[in-house]
Parts: sequence; structure tokens; C-alpha cells
Amino acid sequence: GAAVEIDISGMKPDEMRTIEWRGKPVWVIRRTEAQLAELPQNDPNLADPESKRNQAELTPPYARNEWRSIKPEYLVVVGICTHLGCSPSAKFDAGPQPSLPNTWPGGFLCPCHGSTFDMAGRVYKNKPAPDNLEVPPHMYLSDTKILIG
Ligand code: FES
Repeated sequence: GAAVEIDISGMKPDEMRTIEWRGKPVWVIRRTEAQLAELPQNDPNLADPESKRNQAELTPPYARNEWRSIKPEYLVVVGICTHLGCSPSAKFDAGPQPSLPNTWPGGFLCPCHGSTFDMAGRVYKNKPAPDNLEVPPHMYLSDTKILIG
């Protein structure tokens, strides 16, 4: 499919924008300092903290780092659960969630079977989703434009 461009100018921390690429939603999220600081602390609770599984399909070389992204602030992921393809909901805040541990620092929740992902799209342990969310191929055309695909 054709590559698509997304404009990220003026995005505020915690803001998410979505664009369709190959019929799939791609999310760009500007993460807050606090969200970035939490990422390494999540590692012990994740199924694949270093994104080693299916790396060729899910995590391009430039996203094989602590943030799973080119620029730490901006997460670019395909918003489709790696279990059976539902679209997770964005849950940026830790606020009380009946089915989640109180310590959940926020991230994404799949409504279908309860898989949870952190703010780098990494899946938590013991969830039905086997893999982290896909980081699609992408590059920065400028500080405010990302080419997906
Ligand atoms: Fe997401 Fe099953 S489709 S948990």
C-alpha cells in the first residue's frame, strides 16, 4: 500500500493522532516525561520488554530501543491488538480500572480479551496477546511530518 503522511505539528503531551495506513489505524502519541520515565520500570512485568519477538515484522531497527521509537517523545504504533485484531483503547492515565492492577501506569487496553500494553505498546505478561504492538515502517520528513509506510 501507499505510504501516508501525518502532520504532528502542535501536538501536546498526551495527545494522540490517528491515520489510516493499509486499512489499519496508526497512532502517533506524544508521550509525557512521566510516561517516558515509567517505561524502564515496566520491564519486569512485560512479556517481551526488549521487543525481540517477531522483531523483523514488529520492531524496525530504529525502534529497537527503550522507547520503541525514533524520537523518545513520539510513539508510532499500529493500533491493532496482536491477539485477534481488536483495536485497543487508549488509557493514558493510571486512574482506577476495575480489571487492572492499581499499579498499572497507563497505556492501552484491548476490550476484547483484556490484553494490556504499556506506553511503548509492549504487552504485559500473562495476557492473550502474544506480541507487542507493531511499530510500522516510518521516517521523519521534517520535525512536524512523519511518513508511514
Ligand atoms: Fe485483544 Fe484478544 S483481541 S486481547
